[in-house]
Amino acid sequence: MRVLFVTPECYPLVKTGGLADVSAALPPALNHAGADVRLLLPGYPAVLNGLTNLHEVGDLITDLPGCDRAQLLIGRTPDGVLAYALDAPSLYNRPGNPYLGPDGNDWPDNAQRFAALAWCASGFAAHDAYDPWWRPDVLHGHDWQTGLIPAYLTLRPDRFDGPFRPATVMTIHNIAYQGQFGAWMMGDLGLPSSAYRIDGVEYYGGIGYLKAGCLYADRLTTVSPTYAHEIQTDEHGMGLQGLLAGRADSLTGILNGVDYHIWDPTTDPHIAARYSAEDLGGKDLCKADLQAAFGLDRRPDAPLAGVVSRLTWHKGLDLVLEAATQWVAWGGQLAVLGSGDHASEAGFRHLAAWYPHSVGVTIGYDEALSHRIQAGADILLVPSRSEPCGLTQLYALKYGTLPLVRRTGGLADTIVDANPAAANDGSATGFQFVNPTAQELTWALRRAATLYRKPERWHAMQQRAMTRDFGWHGPAEEYMELYREIAPALVA
Ligand code: ADP
Ligand code: GLC
Repeated sequence: MRVLFVTPECYPLVKTGGLADVSAALPPALNHAGADVRLLLPGYPAVLNGLTNLHEVGDLITDLPGCDRAQLLIGRTPDGVLAYALDAPSLYNRPGNPYLGPDGNDWPDNAQRFAALAWCASGFAAHDAYDPWWRPDVLHGHDWQTGLIPAYLTLRPDRFDGPFRPATVMTIHNIAYQGQFGAWMMGDLGLPSSAYRIDGVEYYGGIGYLKAGCLYADRLTTVSPTYAHEIQTDEHGMGLQGLLAGRADSLTGILNGVDYHIWDPTTDPHIAARYSAEDLGGKDLCKADLQAAFGLDRRPDAPLAGVVSRLTWHKGLDLVLEAATQWVAWGGQLAVLGSGDHASEAGFRHLAAWYPHSVGVTIGYDEALSHRIQAGADILLVPSRSEPCGLTQLYALKYGTLPLVRRTGGLADTIVDANPAAANDGSATGFQFVNPTAQELTWALRRAATLYRKPERWHAMQQRAMTRDFGWHGPAEEYMELYREIAPALVA
């Protein structure tokens, strides 16, 4: 089963969020399960510098929409997975964030940049295949940046040999990001103008890349079962609910996993002391280290809540700003690492200035510090208004840092609330609240603080959390099953 895994991000080469972690960890897990998965990434400087053994494949590519000359290269990721890079300097040779220019706005040619990526992916199946030695059975695209892949396969049959058409899978990691561009782009994308219609790539008066992916892909997946339901509703579908409900039979929710080579307190090189479920002693040192790093009072008995997050509205961190005063009044501490909306950044800076002994804030992106928070905090806050899967709560479980989450998407699917029933049957692993209000968050914090004062029960919950298995093995098997269903003739 040959799968081309097309993604705009891959840790540690380029990362803005969880998609990068998934793109780094799922392909090796699929290969372990018997697939032959290769990545296709845009040739950003960090990708060209980060792949090893990079060399050219095939001839110069001269038919990319919006780009005269490009070259396909192949190398290996730090995890040893074969990865193609589309080296198109006019599109990707830009440092920094993969989507935003130095002014913090989207690059004005993002439509062309990601149309080119999708065109290149579909070119693996063309008459004149870009890599004549490796033809994928499945093209698996991730998020709007790859949404045009199935559209090219469907709408440009002239490029493909019928019997060799690979199956297509589109995975939605976050429906809030849809890749919507002006209708005037239509002439530049290599799509027939007849495709600009409601049952085509047209989307609210423009062109919708995610919409195109959702319409034309053979199968759709998203990253948790609950989110798969949610995106078919008016509340969470963000305009695509009707299309997705109409394709419900083709839509599956497969939970993300954790790469325990990277996220494991028994081996983590970033944390002050290693510890395990059997011996939690080192976690106290990690807490002292975190309090020092954030300038907090060294109080071993203060419940310390951590946040590691992009600061955007859907992450719900404004609720934390509102609830913080009460949390501090109960003796709680807070350590926040994040970046994003300016208002949210300013809000957290003010909070830290207001409560310097109890609240510490680092604005920015810092991989090592994110590990220290996971290890040193007692509680990890993930109060998202929507959360397709969420990875930080899964990392927290492994570090015995009990997640306090809003009951939505993958948070609902992965964290068992410490309600009386779950406390009795011994299944609780964290805390949930339902409505996105500061009041409900505050109640949940209250429950967490109360339980924290009962060390025996707290330790039992930590141990349970740390032994839950959210590895990639199970999800990889589910993807394999899906690939087999859509490419049945190809499996011997
Ligand atoms: P999303 O993809 O919506 O941002 P996830 O929970 O799936 O949410 O993944 C977020 C990833 O980004 C995690 O690996 C998390 O540790 C990381 N992360 C988020 N913000 C920061 C930050 N400021 N510094 C370091 N890592 C961060
Ligand atoms: C998105 C989602 C997040 C998910 C990640 C990886 O960024 O916001 O919930 O965990 O993708 O699938």
